[in-house]
Amino acid sequence: WPAAARRDGDDVLVGGVALGHVAARFGTPVYVLDEAEVRERCRAYRRALPDAEVHYAAKAFLCGAVAEWVEQEGLGLDVCSGGELELAVTCGFPAERIVLHGNAKSPEELAAAVRLGVGRIVVDSFPEIARLAVLASDDCPQDVLVRVVPGVAAGHHPSVRTGTDEQKFGFSLEPGESGAVSAAVDAVDRILHQPHLRLVGLHCHLGSQIADTAPYLAALDRLVPLLASVRDRHGVALPELDLGGGHAVPYRRGEPALDLEEFAAAVTTRLEQLCSRHRLPVPRLAVEPGRAVTGPAGVAVYRVLTVKHSPGGLTFVAVDGGMSDNPRPALYGSRYTATLIGRASDAPLAEARVVGRHCEAGDVLVPSVELPADVRPGDLLAVPAAGAYHLSMASGYNLVGRPPLIAVRDGAARMLMRRETLDDFRRRDIGR
Ligand code: LLP
Repeated sequence: WPAAARRDGDDVLVGGVALGHVAARFGTPVYVLDEAEVRERCRAYRRALPDAEVHYAAKAFLCGAVAEWVEQEGLGLDVCSGGELELAVTCGFPAERIVLHGNAKSPEELAAAVRLGVGRIVVDSFPEIARLAVLASDDCPQDVLVRVVPGVAAGHHPSVRTGTDEQKFGFSLEPGESGAVSAAVDAVDRILHQPHLRLVGLHCHLGSQIADTAPYLAALDRLVPLLASVRDRHGVALPELDLGGGHAVPYRRGEPALDLEEFAAAVTTRLEQLCSRHRLPVPRLAVEPGRAVTGPAGVAVYRVLTVKHSPGGLTFVAVDGGMSDNPRPALYGSRYTATLIGRASDAPLAEARVVGRHCEAGDVLVPSVELPADVRPGDLLAVPAAGAYHLSMASGYNLVGRPPLIAVRDGAARMLMRRETLDDFRRRDIGR
């Protein structure tokens, strides 16, 4: 839940607005985003890491208002597609504070990035180096980072672990065949030979939903020696080191978050130690939190449509959303909680499974949660920690339509994104 959320009778106030009122006014399912919570999370990063660059990872969730909030709070933006890039720039996000990622950026995306003047492009493959070398010019030189695979396994699910070699991102640190240099060293060499590419540093991203500082320290242990080898081979001390994102947030009571203060202290200390050991100037640190900025600021509100008791004793509480607005349980087995809002209940708690409305049995939102035993059609259920990787990953499955997003602040609600309607689908359906 957002830090300032509180119970108010039978309801929950988020940003001073009762979730039941949001549901009544905007319909369900509906996503609610607490502006103050997003802003405060940005500020917490700036306080904990005052000398570092903090880029919000737009893939967690992006719309014009969120771009504006993080920009005003002094964060940069990590984008991973031409779409995210164009949206941010058209919303006035300064291009020089944008970092472009991606293992397979198209030539058009790279051209747009160079033309718009993005601050950094994180280079992820050899073909990309060749493409960028042609796109950059005397008038349009491009600052780049090399994405390195540090050989560190971390993250909540195999699908999001990007720190080891057998996955698609980045350049390996392992030596090449018959004594050849590693792909990472080769990438650095090639970029440094390109007159219009300016190599400003190294990047890595380990994975997502990491609650422990140790993997980040292990990554530093691999990256700083690479900085030293770049200095030895080319006589240049790269000024930046980007440790990516992946900072964990709790989805249910008692789950750990990455402790930001501890992370900041441990990472800066280890970086200084390693740099002094290798006689390197300390590079400027960058981080790219996505989930930790918007995740806990969001709440999903659903209406119960049916309740069914299986012969085996399970209670299925089916709501009006599901895997089309939150695919995370189906994709990663992610666990959530749900709370009855909008009415009082004295009924004892009983275990229930909150399921969606989609046409497959795996459409489960919350596999197991204690709800009042009298939960019934018409009730509202709130699912917290819904601000990251829900709407950004929402789909058009079953033509249900993606829910609207409502920002709440100081007791007022305003719609940031409207509900997707059948007309939206019809407009794309031009074949007949
Ligand atoms: N930087 C890079 C290069 C990334 O690839 C990512 C996430 C981030 C930063 C931000 O990670 P965060 O701080 O949000 O964990 N859909 C998955 C998460 C995929 C993350 C992909 N990359 C999920 O719902 O768990």
